[in-house]
Amino acid sequence: MKIIGIASSPRKGGNSQTLVEHVLSGAREEGAETELIRLCERNIQPCTGCNSCKSGNGCIIQDSMEDLCDTLAEADVLVFGSPIYWSRLNAQAYPFIDRLYALLKPDFSTDFPKGKKMAVALTCGGMEEEQLNPVNDYLKFVFGFLGFTDAGFVCQNQCFLPDDLAKYPDKIKEAEQLGRTLVK
Ligand SMILES: Cc1cc2nc3c(=O)[nH]c(=O)nc-3n(C[C@H](O)[C@H](O)[C@H](O)COP(=O)(O)O)c2cc1C
Repeated sequence: MKIIGIASSPRKGGNSQTLVEHVLSGAREEGAETELIRLCERNIQPCTGCNSCKSGNGCIIQDSMEDLCDTLAEADVLVFGSPIYWSRLNAQAYPFIDRLYALLKPDFSTDFPKGKKMAVALTCGGMEEEQLNPVNDYLKFVFGFLGFTDAGFVCQNQCFLPDDLAKYPDKIKEAEQLGRTLVK
């Protein structure tokens, strides 16, 4: 089983990336092969809305998305991790999400391989879990178009400094446990 972690934070080794890494570490304990992808280390141009992808010609932009879509297609599970910026995902997450549009046919169906699961990992400052549910729901909605089904959600607030997540060992255990369940 292959599990891909995608981290959108510009802070390398920050809280949301670390939360994703704990999920991946739990999955590895159960024998999964894992890979972490930091969106900031890839070249992902924003969608121009040219609709070439809806004319059967695919996306005209040549950048890292081609490889990332192949990686996603090969993965059994996606763990998407993001910091919360102004109550939503951070800016770097959106070009990636927008460009997934190219995987949808004109009728919004897709040939993308089915049967995949996804989990979401969010960290934030002062917001409570119920305030983060819409962000989790949004991600599950987007990836639902590609056939991903909901396999879990983990979040932690009060994570301001890059290593604040370390103050929450129970959350780290929860993330690792989530990772283990993803393999089953
Ligand atoms: C521009 C910006 C906007 C933010 N907006 C929010 C917010 O609306 N709600 C919140 O609880 N935290 C907010 N935060 C705090 C981050 O979500 C928090 O520090 C997060 O854990 C950072 O994740 P990272 O360490 O992976 O980068 C914001 C931080 C920044 C830099």
